[in-house]
Amino acid sequence: MATLTVLKTPREAAAWAKRVRRAGQRLALVPTMGALHEGHLSLVREGLRRADVVLVSIFVNPTQFGPTEDLARYPRDLEGDVAKCAEAGAAAVYAPEPGMVYPPGYQTYVEVGELSQGLCGARRPGHFRGVATVVTKLFALLRPHVALFGEKDYQQLQVITALAQDLELGVEVVGMPTVREPDGLAMSSRNRYLGAEDRRRALSLSQGLFDAQAQEARGVRDAESLRKAVRDRLDAANVKEDYVELVDARTLKPLERVETGHAARLLVAAFVGATRLIDNVPVPREGT
Ligand code: PAJ
Repeated sequence: MATLTVLKTPREAAAWAKRVRRAGQRLALVPTMGALHEGHLSLVREGLRRADVVLVSIFVNPTQFGPTEDLARYPRDLEGDVAKCAEAGAAAVYAPEPGMVYPPGYQTYVEVGELSQGLCGARRPGHFRGVATVVTKLFALLRPHVALFGEKDYQQLQVITALAQDLELGVEVVGMPTVREPDGLAMSSRNRYLGAEDRRRALSLSQGLFDAQAQEARGVRDAESLRKAVRDRLDAANVKEDYVELVDARTLKPLERVETGHAARLLVAAFVGATRLIDNVPVPREGT
């Protein structure tokens, strides 16, 4: 296993990234909040295919959590995460303390417009402002050539793609497919909150989305029926819907129906007990 550098301060991280670029190497960035799983590691591996060197940031970003959300109990395991990053081939981990990222007097935020407003943006006010701010700060500090994000957080991927383009940050934003457990559950750091019974009930999200995809493949095109396919699974598992929406895959505007040749996305957010989970799929299914 290659040795991995752990960077603790913005200054150290910027200097390290600068050395990489000066050496003529391509730098890939994988931003994370830690508690790493195979979904995160798939981004590291793709980073190694697209660049010479991969840097993983691990930072539980306080500005993207609402006042009643799980910031304090969000799972943290820096030692385990560093070992996983080394194993996957990352060259460095940047794991700053919150006070280093947001020192006293901090007052600058990045807001992405319409893309941030529906779906999770409507349910979690300020969430995407926090995400956009921390990701912009990472891009500005480290100046990666490429940055990798998961489709698991589909709206986040669209928000970050827009900010990189709008602010001309010169970083290529790459989206990667959702990595799932063998039974279909989308991998998530928050799955660690689930007890055995809730873990079983959490399957209703992916099952509902897969049911809807199967219906669409049989010719069902209207949003109401596709959303009902998801709701039926949530209801059967006694899981509380936060939203179920069929949207345009790029603009995220709600759609009434799936149109031939037009990429749509079906997204769900739901509470399994106190744990809020999200998932989404392309409609039609990819490769069809
Ligand atoms: P986090 O939830 O740790 O996710 C880090 C990255 O891993 C995101 O791009 C996310 O979409 C991706 N990811 C998570 N689960 C995945 C899965 N099952 N398959 C594929 N990719 C997956 O998302 C964040 O952190 C934060 O909002 C962050 C972007 C780091 C800003 O703080």
